[in-house]
Amino acid sequence: MASANLNVMIKAARAAGRSLVKDFREVENLQVSSKGPGDFVSRADLEAERIVREILTKERPNYGWLGEESDPVPGKDPTRRWIVDPLDGTTNYLHGLPHWAVSIALEHKGEIVAGVVFDAAKDELYVAEKGQGAFMNETRLRVSGRHKMIECIFATGLPFGGSRQLPRSLKDLGRILPATAGVRRFGAAALDLAYVAAGRYDGFWERGIYPWDMAAGLILVREAGGLVAPIVEGESILESGHVIATNAAIFETFAQVVRAE
Ligand code: IPD
Repeated sequence: MASANLNVMIKAARAAGRSLVKDFREVENLQVSSKGPGDFVSRADLEAERIVREILTKERPNYGWLGEESDPVPGKDPTRRWIVDPLDGTTNYLHGLPHWAVSIALEHKGEIVAGVVFDAAKDELYVAEKGQGAFMNETRLRVSGRHKMIECIFATGLPFGGSRQLPRSLKDLGRILPATAGVRRFGAAALDLAYVAAGRYDGFWERGIYPWDMAAGLILVREAGGLVAPIVEGESILESGHVIATNAAIFETFAQVVRAE
């Protein structure tokens, strides 16, 4: 049974998802502004963030906040904070591509203990709590069991031109593409991780992403039986922004390829 916190997260994700679906129908009329190269924001993101924040703050006024569209807020309870991307996959959304999601995670004493990723366009709600398993619309999720690289499909994100990470990400791609059944780049890290949890992808890696892009997805993968790790051993995944997440069978082989100099 879902905890009270998870129910609050689901309520917030569904409410923001409804608002995003409504705006998505007329996405060509949205005013868009750029926060930097390849980084956009629209009224839809801001409204989704407002909705999530209103619900979470009303229900849990003491928790801290870390979100994509606003400054971090330390909570009266310093041990708990929400990590929120109200719209992961903004570029897809603004191009009318139905592949984006609301992502909400709860961190307790530095550990992600619950996550919700809501793909509102497809009505797929992914949820996980520590020790309770991962689910999509009530169906239990399990990572895939593939163990041969050449049979595996991996997802990634590629930084936009000008990013420091681009040369290294292209190097990764040059090694991984020929060794596998393929690489996908769909443009929403939260969904990439949810798809690993669902066994649709065998793994995911990305360099240079933010805590809100991946926090909820990481617990989905773990609770579906997968492994998540920083690309550089010993670093924190959320702080470094460089992540590997795969099924348990392929982890060592894949991590070696991504970690090789
Ligand atoms: C982006 C997406 C994308 C990833 C980028 C993220 P946003 O998040 O998750 O897949 O490659 O690194 O910034 O900006 O759409 O919330």
